[in-house]
Formats: sequence, C-alpha cells, structure tokens
Amino acid sequence: MPRVSFPHRVGHIFLVFAVRKAIIVGYTSCPPNSIPQPLLSLLTMRVIILPSSTEVSQRAAKFIARQVERKPTSVLGLATGSTPLGTYRELIKLHEAGHFDCSQTTTFNLDEYVGLSPDHGQSYSFFMRENLFKYLNIDLARCHVPDGLAEDFESYCVSYEQEIQKAGGIDLQLLGLGSDGHIAFNEPTSSLASRTRLKALTQQTRLDNARFFDSLAEVPTLAVTMGIGTILEARNILLLACGAKKASAVRSMIEGPISSFVPASALQLHANVTVILDEPAAGWLIKRDYYLACEQVQQGLEKGPHSSISWE
Ligand code: GLP
Repeated sequence: MPRVSFPHRVGHIFLVFAVRKAIIVGYTSCPPNSIPQPLLSLLTMRVIILPSSTEVSQRAAKFIARQVERKPTSVLGLATGSTPLGTYRELIKLHEAGHFDCSQTTTFNLDEYVGLSPDHGQSYSFFMRENLFKYLNIDLARCHVPDGLAEDFESYCVSYEQEIQKAGGIDLQLLGLGSDGHIAFNEPTSSLASRTRLKALTQQTRLDNARFFDSLAEVPTLAVTMGIGTILEARNILLLACGAKKASAVRSMIEGPISSFVPASALQLHANVTVILDEPAAGWLIKRDYYLACEQVQQGLEKGPHSSISWE
C-alpha cells in the first residue's frame, strides 16, 4: 500500500471537511421566498402518505397556495394528467374563498403533444385553460404551455428554457408520475441532464393516455417536454401519485437506484422534494412505516415552540 505523507493526510482531512461543509450549506440554504426546507427531510425526499386521493389534492393545493402566499410573484411549474385535476379543483375553491390570489404569478407547463393546436380538446394548453386558468385571476400572458405546433422545435425549445430563466426560474414545480416512472414526457432512458426537447412517447404512455382520445391511433407519438435537468433546477418540487397503478413506479422513484430507466428517480438528487401519495400508491414502499413515523415527528417539530414553519 502506498503511504500517504503527513502533509497530504492533513490536506485530505481539510478536503473532506470542505466538501461536507459545501454540501450541508448548499442543501440547507433556502432561496429567498421559497418554502423552507422541512426539518427532518434534509438530504432526502419528504414522503407524505395520506388515506385518499381527495386528501392528496387538498394537501397539494394548500402547499401551492402557501408558496404563492409567501411569494405572490412565484413562478409555478404546472403539470397535466388526471392526478393534478383534484388539486386544481381545490385551488379554484381556495381562490373562490379568497385564499389563493395568483394575479402576480407566472406559470410554465411541463409538456405538450406535438401536432395538437391549443384549441384541440386533448392538448395540454386546452386542459390548463379549461381546468384551471379560466377560474383564476391569473394573467394568461404569463401562463406558458409549450407550443405543440412550433415551426422550428430546436430553437423553440431553447427559447422555452430562456423564458423560464428570464422569469427567474421555477419556484415550485408540480409533477405527476407516469406508470413507467416518467416525469413530464421524459420517458425511460431520458438523460438525467436533459433540457426541453422533443421526445418520442413509449407505447406504454400512449396506451395509458389513450383513455383521453377516441382511439389509440389518435394519441400523438411525439411530445415537447421540459427535460429532467430543467425540472431539477426548480427550487422546490412537489410530486403527486395516486392509485395502485402507480405503486411500482413510486417504489422505484423513492427506493430504487437512480437510473435513467426510471426518470423520476432523478428526484433523489434534488434537495427539496415533497412526494404526496395516497395509500394505494404507497403500497409497495418498503419503508412505508418509517415515512409515516418521520412525518409524525416532522409535524411535532413544526408545531414545537422553536419552529416558525407551519404546514397545516
Ligand atoms: C402524462 C403527462 C405527465 C403525467 C402522466 C401521468 O404522461 N405528460 O406529466 O404525470 O401523464 O398522468 P396521470 O396523472 O393521468 O396518471
């Protein structure tokens, strides 16, 4: 074995401490106006398991409303699919009750089918207008959904990323989860560093989404989507998953190895992720009881005399 000289050893020790300090400072410092890091969740995902999808929607809506309350000019990353629908309904209720004012908020959607116009009944643009935007006091000029009809996708995708940067970056990114572990339309084997680009949809995703179209043949084969690298730059991430159909993907995302084969597993690299699940979606988690226990402790800490954070 080669011997390490004394000055070198001292150098190694300093290096280890410097790297540790950098990691701790990096992960625990919160950008201004973002949701504070949950006390127990430093360096891990916060996993919240609730009895039903209704409770998932209510909790998620409060989470989003709180972000906007803390920072009215928040930039929200929004998702489509059936999972966030309940959350959007709850947000509309909060808005009607005077608890969700998004007059200064900016939004960026994750993805859009290529070939569908904003007026197509299955386009994500249409989905957002019909299920959320039209009920809120949001300025539509600040609501961005990728253009599925762009003429030059290469430059369009670059400009979408630039728009996000110009707006100051995404404060809170809402995500659903594909049954194969995809986020947005980042299908399995997507680069974990990917940016907004075109992506071919897998047969699994087309089959899953065929329920919204008249036939499988009508489901587009291509989508324009934020990349995994784009998503990981959001300051906070909130992922929702409901139903037994998501249990396998949820398990791989939280407890599996980080792999491009399960794009959502890349969220393990992010320092501020909250995952809210209903019981069926949490059904395959090996550490399910541990997450429930952590959550109880977390709630206790937050209610404690020294905590300024209140999540409920
Ligand atoms: C699509 C969307 C994803 C969404 C997924 C799951 O693929 N691009 O953003 O998370 O569907 O959808 P659902 O919530 O309907 O299961």
